[in-house]
Amino acid sequence: MKILSVNGSARINGNTDILIDRIFEKMKQAEIETESIQFAGNVIYPCKACFACSGKENCIHKKDNFEDTFEKMKTADAIILASPVYTANVSANMQAFLERAAVVCDMNPGLLKHKIGAAVVSARRGGALNAVDAINHFFLNHEMIVVGSIYWNMVYGKRPGDVLNDKEGLANIDNLAENIIWLMKEMKTQ
Ligand SMILES: Cc1cc2nc3c(=O)[nH]c(=O)nc-3n(C[C@H](O)[C@H](O)[C@H](O)COP(=O)(O)O)c2cc1C
Repeated sequence: MKILSVNGSARINGNTDILIDRIFEKMKQAEIETESIQFAGNVIYPCKACFACSGKENCIHKKDNFEDTFEKMKTADAIILASPVYTANVSANMQAFLERAAVVCDMNPGLLKHKIGAAVVSARRGGALNAVDAINHFFLNHEMIVVGSIYWNMVYGKRPGDVLNDKEGLANIDNLAENIIWLMKEMKTQ
């Protein structure tokens, strides 16, 4: 079993990364393979609305690392889409990624069907729920199974490492990780 995380933060080793690492620690203990991709330092270009992805099962534009990332999503059992909040929503890179991934899935139905999805968001103060919603809307529109926790998956922090002070947020993330593991194991036995 494999879980892939896609991190839309521009900051390496930032808060979003810390949250993914925390989830992945539990995954490794459960012997689930992990892989992280982060867009930091790269630009994900927005959708060109060419619809040339129809029948191709991926975007045909190769200027950035969208194609590789989406290819890995197709083979993962579970996918975490993680983003810091930028201007009260997901980062621009994550928005561009969601835009293109959504069109590829619309043009090639079933690509992510029955895969597990979880949103993870870090924020300083405002807009976290918008970001969680944007990611969950993507999952729910493409036949994925969204994993919940005891609260929405947002953790508060400004400077790198500040999320470690949000104990309630971290407890929620730990519970999310356990729920992902439970669901992955249940689905494996199907
Ligand atoms: C361009 C930019 C815009 C931001 N906008 C918001 C915002 O609207 N609301 C908020 O709560 N935090 C905002 N922040 C703060 C980040 O969400 C916060 O610092 C987060 O923990 C960063 O995660 P990272 O370390 O993984 O990049 C913004 C940060 C940047 C760089």
